[in-house]
Amino acid sequence: MLTHEKIESNVGWLIVLIVLLVSVGGLAEIVPLFFQKSTTTPLNELVKPYDPLRLAGRDIYLREGCYNCHSQMIRPFRAETERYGHYSVAGEFVYDHPFQWGSKRTGPDLARVGGRYSDQWHRIHLLNPRDVVPESNMPAYYWLDRPLKEPNIGAKMAALRAVGVPYTDKEIADAPAAVAGKTELEAVIAYLQGMGLALKQTR
Ligand code: HEC
Repeated sequence: MLTHEKIESNVGWLIVLIVLLVSVGGLAEIVPLFFQKSTTTPLNELVKPYDPLRLAGRDIYLREGCYNCHSQMIRPFRAETERYGHYSVAGEFVYDHPFQWGSKRTGPDLARVGGRYSDQWHRIHLLNPRDVVPESNMPAYYWLDRPLKEPNIGAKMAALRAVGVPYTDKEIADAPAAVAGKTELEAVIAYLQGMGLALKQTR
């Protein structure tokens, strides 16, 4: 018989049983989430697949590494909800592949930044943050004011469709026209302005 004393005095058994225990705990907590409606279906009708311009803006957000300083996940604590708005819920992110929750906050969380500022504010802020927030240490992204080149936008949407984002054939066919003539700056701003609108609460 394997007594408690034997387990505690045998490092091999200790390792094996701890791994077993932790994985059972992990599986019991994580696996059900793959099948829960609240984590796999959109929260409400306001959660929509990214339109082509916002999708392009999201890719620029990744390219520029904005996630290194900004999270997109409001935790359910009063200090967070008072500052940023309603805490984030899984149903808001079903079309995010990959999601940008993050945990590093050199700058503020951006999960509900949509609609908080005007397009013009974002424009000035992205080109040189110090022009609107004098003490800001966010880098200036002055090069974003250049033509958006997205020859593969349709292919990107098709790839997202393969992982479950319900784009129609027409939306994919029309995508190049939707981003034609836009700048990278406009795309990033479109992305930011759409963030977190599905679950807004007055702050
Ligand atoms: C080195 C860290 C850093 C990086 C990288 C960075 N930011 Fe920031 N960001 C900040 C800081 C700090 C602030 C707060 C001061 C300010 O408003 O400028 C901020 C503020 C913001 C705000 C205003 C948020 C609010 O609620 O007031 C937006 C929007 C924003 N950043 C977008 C971006 C985008 C888009 C990128 C990538 C193109 C980016 N940031 C990259 C540090 C960063």
